[in-house]
Amino acid sequence: MVTSELQFAVKPSLTPSELDDVGALVAEARWNQLAADWRIFIELGCVYAAHTGEGRIVATTATLPYGDRFAWISMVLVKGEYRRHGLATQLMRRAMEQLAREDRIPILDATPDGRAVYRRLGFEDSWGFARLLRRERQRAAATFVGPADVTIRAMVDQDWPALSAYDAAAFGAERGAVLAGLRGRLPSAELVAERAGRIVGFALGRDGGLAAQVGPLIADDTAIAAALLARAVDGLEGPLFVDLADSKQEVRSLLDARGFTEVRPFTRMLYGSSTRFDDAARTFAVIGPEFG
Ligand SMILES: CC(C)(COP(=O)(O)OP(=O)(O)OC[C@H]1O[C@@H](n2cnc3c(N)ncnc32)[C@H](O)[C@@H]1OP(=O)(O)O)[C@@H](O)C(=O)NCCC(=O)NCCS
Repeated sequence: MVTSELQFAVKPSLTPSELDDVGALVAEARWNQLAADWRIFIELGCVYAAHTGEGRIVATTATLPYGDRFAWISMVLVKGEYRRHGLATQLMRRAMEQLAREDRIPILDATPDGRAVYRRLGFEDSWGFARLLRRERQRAAATFVGPADVTIRAMVDQDWPALSAYDAAAFGAERGAVLAGLRGRLPSAELVAERAGRIVGFALGRDGGLAAQVGPLIADDTAIAAALLARAVDGLEGPLFVDLADSKQEVRSLLDARGFTEVRPFTRMLYGSSTRFDDAARTFAVIGPEFG
């Protein structure tokens, strides 16, 4: 294994054998992404890769622009035997240089291992969330009753313009194309909360290699978020992830009662700043660390 012979490239697409390589990186890290997730980065963002002379990808980093103020960096993965040779740092620097040219602030969600790399690069801690896992569906002792004046119902195409606008106000940038990339992947998690004809919350989800995931979960208040989440979680069988903001402890109790336990913590970090763009009150669960 000679890292000095590796080449760096921006990938305009991923061939089937490259998809196998990046899938192996995901599996080695025990992450959850599928080819459908990589497609979102290829179509809407940028995939940076380090590859061998034979074209085998051994390390990746991806970026995703959100509006004109900031961009996500994620999928920072290095094959086991290539770690601690500066590959993650080199790929990060390339991604950050491009974002600097675009005048976008890099944001990411760091695992504890990744946080060590990012702090050295100038990223600062902003807020935290926890990946919670339920292995099998467990019925809570009591059914959850949400606010009487709020209707929780399945999302329909006609919701999309209002839903994208509602999400943009909470997230800090328009990301309708990314949300659209989730649609159809976990239909029973696609829920809207409505009060007097206005959207006051929504949930989406997607399938994954290890577990399905419910997120994002955006809502006006805790009672609405809890109603959306209870409906989504109780309607799904099998393993399930929710990446829940640490500040949302009341919602955490609802998930605890349904058999969720914490798998790993994440820290949201911004380059050169700790000031978040999103609305802390309405952000209950993120899509996932790769998308924000
Ligand atoms: C985290 C990861 C991407 C680091 O890749 P890497 O190429 O080994 O990182 P670098 O060689 O650029 O590391 C740069 C510095 O970060 C720090 N660092 C990197 N990995 C570390 C770890 N596991 N623990 C503590 N510090 C670490 C070290 O200070 C290192 O410098 P040094 O080797 O001179 O001491 C890699 O371990 C990995 O793929 N892990 C699994 C997936 C993951 O957690 N990705 C991060 C997502 S946020």
